[in-house]
Amino acid sequence: MSNPQPLAIRLRALETYPVLGQLLLGFNNYVKNLPAWQVGASSIFVAALIIRLRQIIFHEIPIYQRTKSWAFKVARMFPFVQNQINKELSKTRKDMEKSMLKPPTNWSTNETLPASRMEHSDLVAVLQKLHDHEGVSDRCAAGKVSGTVYAGGTGFKEYTDMLNTATSLFAWTNPLHPSVFPAVRQMESEVIAMTCNIFNGSSTSCGVVTAGGTESICMALKAYRDYARDVRGITKPNLVAPRTAHPAFDKGCDYFGISLRKIQENPTTRAADLKAMRAACDSNTIALVGSCPQYPHGAVDPIEELGKLAKEYGCGMHVDCCLGSFLVPYMRKAGFEFPNFDFSVRGVTSISCDTHKYGMSPKGTSVLMYSNPKYRQAQYSVFPDWPGGIYGTPGIAGSRPGAK
Ligand SMILES: Cc1ncc(COP(=O)(O)O)c(C=O)c1O
Repeated sequence: MSNPQPLAIRLRALETYPVLGQLLLGFNNYVKNLPAWQVGASSIFVAALIIRLRQIIFHEIPIYQRTKSWAFKVARMFPFVQNQINKELSKTRKDMEKSMLKPPTNWSTNETLPASRMEHSDLVAVLQKLHDHEGVSDRCAAGKVSGTVYAGGTGFKEYTDMLNTATSLFAWTNPLHPSVFPAVRQMESEVIAMTCNIFNGSSTSCGVVTAGGTESICMALKAYRDYARDVRGITKPNLVAPRTAHPAFDKGCDYFGISLRKIQENPTTRAADLKAMRAACDSNTIALVGSCPQYPHGAVDPIEELGKLAKEYGCGMHVDCCLGSFLVPYMRKAGFEFPNFDFSVRGVTSISCDTHKYGMSPKGTSVLMYSNPKYRQAQYSVFPDWPGGIYGTPGIAGSRPGAK
C-alpha cells in the first residue's frame, strides 16, 4: 500500500510557498515532454548552478567585499584609472623615501666587500658613527621613542651595560641545540615558568619563547588550526577577532590558511563588540581573540565575556598581552582598577606576552603561554625521518639567538 504522507506534505508545501509551487509545476510540465537525456542533462545543469550560487553567496569573504575588489580590478583595466593610481603610488613612494630613508648627505654606500681587512678600531668607529646618527643614547635614554623602545629614564646606561654583558656571554649560543647549550634551555624554561606564574597559570600551564609578538601570535594560530583539525575535524578553520587586533593575526591567518573574521569594535569604548563577535562564531571557529590592551586605542577587550563565549563554542581563546606584557599584571597592585584578563579567566587558553616590550629585554623575544600542553603540542613541528637526523622546532625559526 502506498504511503499518502509525502503527497500531503508536498501539497502543504505548495500552499505555503505558492510562487515556488508554480515554478516547480511549470518546470515539471516543461521537462515531462523532453527526451530522457535532456531531462538528465538539465538536472545536472541546474544542480551545478545551485552549487555554484551557494558557493558565491556563502563564501568566507562577504559578497560586498568581493564585489568591491572585482569592481576595482575592472576599473584598473581603464588606462586613465591606472595612470591616476600610478601617479598616487609614485607620490606615496617619494613621501615614504623622504620620511624613512634619511642618510646624512656625507654617507657613502658600500656595496662590495672592502679590498683589505679593516682594523677592529676602524670598524668600531664606523659603528659609532651609525649609532650616533640613530640618536640611540639621547632619544631612547630619554624614553622618547614611544611604541618602539620600552626602556628609558634613570639607570638606562647601567641597564644597557648589563644587557651588553649578558649578550656577549651568550653570543654564540643557539637554543636549537639544547644538548650543546643546556644553560640556555634552563634560562628559557625559567622565563616561561615565571611568566606563567605572573599570568596566574595553573599546574598545567606551559609555553615557549619566540622571536617576538608576531611570532607568538602566528604560532598560537598554527597550534589552534592543527589542534582543531586533529581533535574536532575542522578543515575550514576561522578565527574571530576584533578589527583592532594586531595585524600579526592577519599575517598568521594568511600563512596558515585560516579565514579571519574581523569584527567592528564598539565605536564608543573601542573594545570588542561581544554581540557581533558571537554572531560571527560557528562550528568552524578555532579560536577567539581579545587584546589587553590593543595597540590602536589602548582599549582592553572584555576578556571574561570572550572566555565564556569561547567555552560555549568549544574553541580556543587567545589573549594578546604583547603590549601589556609585564605592566598589566601589576595594574591592581599599582592601585588601578583592572578587569580579569589572564589564566584566572575561564576559557582563556593562550596568552602572548612580549619580554622585549615591558620585560625590558633586547628586541627579539616574547613568551607564548598555553593553559594546557595539548595546544603547545599542536604548535611543534617534528620531522623524525630526515636523513640529517630527527629535526624538531617549537616555532618558525631553526637556529635562534640564545643571548636574547
Ligand atoms: C597588541 C600588540 N600585539 C602584537 C604586537 C606585535 O609585536 P612585535 O612587533 O613584537 O611582533 C604588538 C606590537 O606593537 C602589539 O602592540
